Amino acid sequence: HLYGDERRNSRGMNIHVAADLDPLLNHLSQWSATSWEAAPVIGGEKRREGNPGEITAPYDMTRPVGQVYWSSEAQAAEALSVAAAGFPAWRDRPVEDRARCLERYADLMESHMEELMAICCREAGKTMQDGIDEVREAVDFCRYYAIQGRARFGDAMALPGPTGESNELYMEGRGVFLCISPWNFPLAIFTGQIMAALVAGNAVIAKPAEQTSLVAGRAFELMLEAGFPPDVIQLLPGDGATIGGKLTPDPRIAGVAFTGSTEVAHILNRTLAQREGAIVPLIAETGGQNAMIVDSSALPEQVVRDVIQSAFVSAGQRCSALRVLYIQKDVAGRMEELLAGAMQELSIGNPELHSTDVGPVIDGEALSGLQSHLEELDRGSRLIARVPLSEACQSGYFVPPSAYGISGINELKNEHFGPILHVVHYTAEKLDEVIDEINATGYGLTLGIHSRSESTAAYIERRVKVGNTYVNRNQIGAVVGVQPFGGRGLSGTGPKAGGPHYLLRFATERTRTINT
Ligand code: SER
Repeated sequence: HLYGDERRNSRGMNIHVAADLDPLLNHLSQWSATSWEAAPVIGGEKRREGNPGEITAPYDMTRPVGQVYWSSEAQAAEALSVAAAGFPAWRDRPVEDRARCLERYADLMESHMEELMAICCREAGKTMQDGIDEVREAVDFCRYYAIQGRARFGDAMALPGPTGESNELYMEGRGVFLCISPWNFPLAIFTGQIMAALVAGNAVIAKPAEQTSLVAGRAFELMLEAGFPPDVIQLLPGDGATIGGKLTPDPRIAGVAFTGSTEVAHILNRTLAQREGAIVPLIAETGGQNAMIVDSSALPEQVVRDVIQSAFVSAGQRCSALRVLYIQKDVAGRMEELLAGAMQELSIGNPELHSTDVGPVIDGEALSGLQSHLEELDRGSRLIARVPLSEACQSGYFVPPSAYGISGINELKNEHFGPILHVVHYTAEKLDEVIDEINATGYGLTLGIHSRSESTAAYIERRVKVGNTYVNRNQIGAVVGVQPFGGRGLSGTGPKAGGPHYLLRFATERTRTINT
């Protein structure tokens, strides 16, 4: 069952038809005035200490969402002691018990779907469609890893015993895993990392992104309700440097799963490498400088639809999102004209409204970084299109979806994590240079190709070094078990979340030889 033949992904929803939309709106309205709370949870106890931080919506700074009690260094130390003590019994539980906890948690998320969507919307600014996708992906991770866990961690694998010995290979958890998750998939990636670590038999300390502690806090309550033992899972909302700084140097941390910036991945890697004692793995999924190459045989309408999806949906805040669009010169004028037209159709604003396509960026820091980038582009680059922001956007962190012509991907020094697209024109004889330029960024996450020539698409795919290639479609929204997702180089250490080999990274292999 390793490849999940019997598995089904969770059911989708079509918010463009009243039969799906109306009941959903009705359920969501019940959560519109709720205030949520998150706090460190150690040994199953919620620790409300000190003054909580007030959280407001990124699309309306006057809209309260809830309160978060931040974790202290002392609480991080305590969480580690509890998890280290809880680990051996969890490792030795039959994988069936562990897998069932994952499945119960998936069921609970489904039955709390509207509440989880409401928190994703209010706290992270997720649109309705993104909220649905978020919950579905989290649910799919649980069910997929439960199946993978049973296959990998069940019976030991019998090996040849030519000299009369019996030989077996089996897998087991490594110890306490620190799972550090990002704000852009505050439920899905938070869940995916933790569930992979748990089904493999590890204890977990979860450190969600500060910006999205409320979603994480509510999901964590559901994990406890699903039956994960309180000494096995610990939650530490708070500052990365405080918690990571306390925990990663500690030899009782047996592995780190991290999704976030390349810069922080380097810090974690250095800290783990300099530590005395056991050598432990870092599983890192980081950023991208993702390109799409469109040749003159591509279908313009299809290209434009896929570019809009890849660059602007989720306000461009996906690590998979398209940043640099290479268009073959012969068709560039026509494509840009269509693209500019399609961009004007995007509705930007309050994500609580189902008609909104593009919500806010996550916070003031993200906004000012993107605004400075736009100012820099305005100084030297050709504006292709910009969607004006309405008056209502003034009370939140909104960036106008924009497209600019630039000379090449190497003009960009950083990843710009928002709805800003850069467009480059190339001529057919320069395709190899385009490929070299993309590879020279050092990132390797997603690549889009639009071409009706199979040999061109195959040639580009072989030469560009990325983790996920998408041909004649958009390049976002990898589906669990269908498009295992993860990059290389500056984009990460390579494991594919939602793929059949992911759990192996969280485990240690053992061989047992018995002289019979
Ligand atoms: N898994 C996400 C996607 O494919 C990553 O950001 O879009």
